[in-house]
Amino acid sequence: MAYKAMKILRQTSLWHNVEMGPPDAILGITEAYKKDTNSQKINLGAGTYRDDNGKPYVLETVKKAEKMMLANNMDKEYTTISGIPNFCKLSAKLAFGEDNPYLKNDKITTVQTLSGTGALRLGAAFLQKFYPGNKAIYMPSPTWSNHPNIFKHAGFDEIKYYRYYDYKTNQLDIKGVLQDISKIPEKSIILLHACAHNPTGVDPNEKEWKEILEAIKDRDLFVFFDMAYQGFATGDINKDAYAVRFFLENGFTNMALAQSYAKNIGLYGERVGALSFVAKDEEESSRIMSQLKILIRPMYSNPPIHGARIVEQILSNPDLYSHWLVEVKGMAQRIINMRKTLVDNLSKHSGERDWSHIQKQIGMFCFSGLTPEEVENLKKKFSIYLTNDGRISIAGINSKNIDYLSHAIHSVCKK
Ligand code: LMR
Repeated sequence: MAYKAMKILRQTSLWHNVEMGPPDAILGITEAYKKDTNSQKINLGAGTYRDDNGKPYVLETVKKAEKMMLANNMDKEYTTISGIPNFCKLSAKLAFGEDNPYLKNDKITTVQTLSGTGALRLGAAFLQKFYPGNKAIYMPSPTWSNHPNIFKHAGFDEIKYYRYYDYKTNQLDIKGVLQDISKIPEKSIILLHACAHNPTGVDPNEKEWKEILEAIKDRDLFVFFDMAYQGFATGDINKDAYAVRFFLENGFTNMALAQSYAKNIGLYGERVGALSFVAKDEEESSRIMSQLKILIRPMYSNPPIHGARIVEQILSNPDLYSHWLVEVKGMAQRIINMRKTLVDNLSKHSGERDWSHIQKQIGMFCFSGLTPEEVENLKKKFSIYLTNDGRISIAGINSKNIDYLSHAIHSVCKK
C-alpha cells in the first residue's frame, strides 16, 4: 500500500516544475477555432488556402501527380540524408531561375527540408555553427511570429529587429528599413521575406529592393531569404522570385534561401521545402552539403518522400507544370478578388475608417489595423478567429462568409 502511494506521488511530482506554456500565436488559434461550436465561426488565423466553400483545396495537379506515382508503384525506401536529388535540383531551378549561372556551375547547394520552417531551422543551425561573422540576426518588425523562435531554438542569443512597416501610412517604411540597416553591425545576418511579407502583405518595389541591396552591401551582411509564398503574391512564380534573383544577378552571393511548398502546391501537412546556400565554387558547395548532412542526420535522419515526389512530378512534367502555374494563379486571384470585396464591404459598413490599404497589400494576408481589443471582440462575440496583431488570412474568406465578417468587423469597430 505504502509502496503504491509512493509510486503515485512520484508519478505526480515528476514534472511539477513544467510550467503551462502559452498556445502558439498562430496555430493555437486553429486549436481554439476547432473547439468553437458556433456554426458561423470563421478561421482567419493560420495562412492556409481555402476554396470558395471554405474547404481545404487539394490541387488537381497534386491529385494527378499522386496517380502517376501510384501507377509507377514506387518504393518506400529511405531517400538520401539531403533528400531526393532531383527534387533539390528542381527546387533550386524554380527559385533561382532556369538559366541561373550559379546553378549551372554547381555553386548552389540545395537540400530537401521539412517545409519552410525546417529550412529556416536547419539554415539557422548551420549559421550558428559555421558563420564566421557576427552571429546576430536582424528581422523585420513585424515578422512571422515563428521566426524569432526558430533562431532562438538554434542557439542565436541576439535576435534584433529593423523597422519595416509604417503603422501610420500602412506602407513599407523604406526610410526606416534603410536607416536601421545602415546601423546593423557589419557582417551580421539579416532575414528578408522574399515576397508576400507575412504578416503585413507589404513588399518592397523594385527600386526599394535595389536600395535595400545597396544598404546590405554597405554593411557586408549575410542575407537569409525566406520564400514561403512564391506565386502567391502576384500569381506569377517568376515575379515573386524577383528579389532573390536580383540579388544574385548583382553578384550578391552571401545568401541562403528557405523555400516552402505548403502554400504554392498546397502541401501543408506533407512538410516539403528546401534550403539552399550559394557557394564560391563547386568544391565549397560540396563542403557545405557535407555539413548540412551532418546536421540533418541526428535531427531526423532523412526527409519524408511522399510530398517531395509530388513536387518532383509537378516540376518535371511539362503538362503538370503548366497546369500548376494556372492553379497557383487561380489561388492568388481568388485572394485578390476577396481583398477587393472585403474593402468594398467594409467601406460600405464602416465608412469612418480607411480600409484601402487592404487592397494594396499582397499575398495571403492583410494587416487590417484591427486592435487586439477588436480582435478579442470578434472572437468573443462572433466566433471569428485571427491573430492578435490584426492579421487576417484572406484565404479564409469566401462569398458565403464575407457578409457575416464585414458586419462583425463593423460592429466591433463602432465607437
Ligand atoms: C502562417 O503564418 O499562418 C503560416 O505560415 C502557418 C504557420 O505555420 O504559422
